[in-house]
Amino acid sequence: MKALQEKIHEVGRVLSADVLKVDSFLNHQIDPQLMKEVGEEFANRYANEVITKVLTIESSGIAPATFLGLTIGAPVVFARKKQSLTLTDNVYTSEVYSFTKQESNKISVSRDFLTADDNVIIIDDFLANGEAVKGLVDIVNQSGAHLVGVGIVIEKGFQQGGKLLRDQGLRIESLARIKSLENGKVEFFEDGEF
Ligand code: G4P
Repeated sequence: MKALQEKIHEVGRVLSADVLKVDSFLNHQIDPQLMKEVGEEFANRYANEVITKVLTIESSGIAPATFLGLTIGAPVVFARKKQSLTLTDNVYTSEVYSFTKQESNKISVSRDFLTADDNVIIIDDFLANGEAVKGLVDIVNQSGAHLVGVGIVIEKGFQQGGKLLRDQGLRIESLARIKSLENGKVEFFEDGEF
């Protein structure tokens, strides 16, 4: 997606060969116009599918997921990482290990908001090792819902997640696929290049 790649070139900061800082439009401050275009792009890519629910994980997945939900008219559910006062039982849970933070989080989604009748798309901001998406896929499987596919704003194509998930037969649509962050520079895969 051209506008997204341009924004990354313009304001993204390479912190190391592994980490891209994009908190001026995605992870902290949010650019609503760009997120609206991101939501519309996900909707276009999955235009041939009937989607009844958008599933994401707090916190940075919520903005792109919400704009997709708005575009296609489907509710958005976000998995919680912390136990909520009101979300005590009646939940699906899964474990998500973060290599970046070297900690495991238990994520939960209420059974009220995901059922076997749903056609679900999973949305997240980053795809690195794929742990967050794996946890969300586990929750969709527990619910008996049908998983249509996954939408990612920025995939770090030099990490394992995308390959692991595609090898399992999952459809993954990434709007920006990074080939390398070496030497402080962001290099993207061209469309169709793997
Ligand atoms: P994985 O889910 O693909 O395995 O990712 P990983 O454990 O490596 O990432 C854990 C957290 O770090 C996630 O956010 C993920 O979005 C974020 N992350 C991974 N790589 C990058 C990167 O290059 N740049 C930035 N800015 N973030 C990255 P989180 O902890 O769940 O945070 P949030 O959603 O509350 O913002």
